[in-house]
Amino acid sequence: MNRDPVDMKNDMLKTLITKEELIATVARLGKEISRDYRGKTPVLVAVLKGAFIFMADLVRQLDIPCMVDFMVVSSYGKGMTTSGQVKIIKDLDTNIKEKDVIIVEDILDSGVTLSYLIGVLRQRGPASIKICTLFDKPERHVVEIQPEYRGLEVPNEFIVGYGLDYAEIYRNYPEIAVLKPSVYSDEQ
Ligand code: IMP
Ligand code: MG
Repeated sequence: MNRDPVDMKNDMLKTLITKEELIATVARLGKEISRDYRGKTPVLVAVLKGAFIFMADLVRQLDIPCMVDFMVVSSYGKGMTTSGQVKIIKDLDTNIKEKDVIIVEDILDSGVTLSYLIGVLRQRGPASIKICTLFDKPERHVVEIQPEYRGLEVPNEFIVGYGLDYAEIYRNYPEIAVLKPSVYSDEQ
């Protein structure tokens, strides 16, 4: 992106998911996880940076104890399509052997990132691994993945806000929106 947005709202074509819908969705996921992990202390592993806001809201909707940890992986460049290559930039600090792991993702798109991560974490001998994704774009899957916890299905459009970025911007936009095409056409 060659320009800095002055007013984020001005760059948005439409709102796809409101703040209220986000709050209700995260509350529902928190209930499902609390119910399924009662008596356990799962390790929630958020995939940065996209999942940072979701993770922060989700853990506060759990009424069971949990641990949190973070990973940074890269599969996307600056733009909007996956490179198909996944690399660990920051690994876990936690030893997940015999632990119940929940991977917390912002959005399941091609599925390449999650299937790679599950493969890596499985080798470390956790008691279980499940996936909690806030958004799912089923039309875009190229790898077969069935998340156990799924917030909302979204159409095949590039979305920003609530942690999701375009070229690292718009993560702090409080709802989920679609950008105006002119925002992308600035980019080469
Ligand atoms: P996947 O490996 O193709 O499933 O890519 C997942 C990652 O791509 C997500 O964790 C996001 O960081 C990013 N991503 C996929 N779709 C979108 C989108 O619509 N907006 C912003 N980021 C996206
Ligand atoms: Mg991203």
